[in-house]
Amino acid sequence: MTAPAANPIIDSLLSRNSLAGSFMAAPAPSDDELKQILGAAQRASDHGRLRPWRFWVVRPAQYEAFYDQLAAAATRVQGDPARYDMNRDKYRLTARAPLLVVAAAKINTAHKVAPIEQVFAAGGATQLVLNGAHALGYAAFLFSGAGVFDPQFKASLGLGADDHLIGFICLGTPAGPGKPGPSAAEAVQGGLTQTVAQWSDSGGI
Ligand SMILES: Cc1cc2nc3c(=O)[nH]c(=O)nc-3n(C[C@H](O)[C@H](O)[C@H](O)COP(=O)(O)O)c2cc1C
Repeated sequence: MTAPAANPIIDSLLSRNSLAGSFMAAPAPSDDELKQILGAAQRASDHGRLRPWRFWVVRPAQYEAFYDQLAAAATRVQGDPARYDMNRDKYRLTARAPLLVVAAAKINTAHKVAPIEQVFAAGGATQLVLNGAHALGYAAFLFSGAGVFDPQFKASLGLGADDHLIGFICLGTPAGPGKPGPSAAEAVQGGLTQTVAQWSDSGGI
């Protein structure tokens, strides 16, 4: 079998890797580029065309206030006020990217499309942000932490009990090696072996 011809879009999808915010430098995507990246997210597969994803852009001037809220949220979930300072330091370290985007799933429980399918769609949209950033040459990293489960923090974003905070996307220019781990190529090969099979009509594998 001959190998398929190189395709720049597939190459981009195959080569995406996460890079932690601590390995990012300025510049962040420009506003026009951010519009392209978040525009790509709008093309997520979307049962019922509900657009169940939500994104909020957080600018560096807002970071200190944002870290305060994230740390308070995580601390409430953990139920141990003594952890606030540690949580804040952790978020400060993790989320020191040139730009942050909060990603969430806003679920329409009155709609016939099952909530879990709406969550899948929002997850797909979030992945498109990561892929869109990579396609434009930027690094991206999605992180969460306990704060995503805090009802009060969710409410501050207009999210209710049925909605889900997916996480926080660090965006910036790659400026470091990242944490040791499999390369994108290794991840693709390993993933193909572990996660893909031919369906068998006899029920086995
Ligand atoms: C919903 C979600 C939340 C995540 N939260 C974290 C996190 O809090 N901390 C972390 O190190 N990685 C987190 N990750 C994983 C990283 O974003 C990343 O995918 C992982 O480090 C693997 O790197 P790769 O994307 O290059 O394969 C999360 C991933 C998802 C999908």
